[in-house]
Amino acid sequence: MKKVVKLLCKMLVAALMLMVAGVFVMWFLFFRINTVEQVFEESVWESQGNRNALILYQKSRFSLTQNTVTCMAEALQKEGYSVVANHPRHDLQYEIQDYDLVILCSPVYGGTVSQPLLDYASSHDFSGRKVVVVITGEDLSTDAEIRMVTEVVSGTDDVNGLKTDRADDAFRQRFLSMITE
Ligand SMILES: Cc1cc2nc3c(=O)[nH]c(=O)nc-3n(C[C@H](O)[C@H](O)[C@H](O)COP(=O)(O)O)c2cc1C
Repeated sequence: MKKVVKLLCKMLVAALMLMVAGVFVMWFLFFRINTVEQVFEESVWESQGNRNALILYQKSRFSLTQNTVTCMAEALQKEGYSVVANHPRHDLQYEIQDYDLVILCSPVYGGTVSQPLLDYASSHDFSGRKVVVVITGEDLSTDAEIRMVTEVVSGTDDVNGLKTDRADDAFRQRFLSMITE
């Protein structure tokens, strides 16, 4: 009987250790992404048009958020916007007033969005600018993450948001109709 109890205790401890390790791995691989500033990594899409757009985005683990940014940038370029994209950081030198359109983009992990993006948005004045919040995530039944970002944008009422689980033609159409509203 004692041996059985000892074995059960060992199995319980092993299961607990596995759970802790699992939580740590999940945190490190996914949840941590939205907590840290990513390195300066500017991408530019030039256009002959006279409008400018700034896209600030947190890179996701795989490629959904990056593909979404490319999809938006290429669509904007065709509409005559010159586009600059980078990751939100406290030391970025972009002047919000130089851009007609600012896009704030983040993946969702465990219901949370990019903290560096929230920090950037809450510490800048978007007066007179059009702002679009784009959230990438699997759960399209809620727009809570859009609101997390729109709530910290100040100085403009022209703030809209959309959430997507893919960077396809349907998303491009929704995005373009939002920026031309
Ligand atoms: C651990 C984990 C947690 C996630 N949590 C959410 C969530 O709370 N809400 C949601 O809409 N999507 C959630 N997703 C889906 C991700 O937001 C989506 O995969 C992400 O936007 C980009 O994915 P990528 O890593 O494939 O590029 C989660 C994905 C993972 C792996």
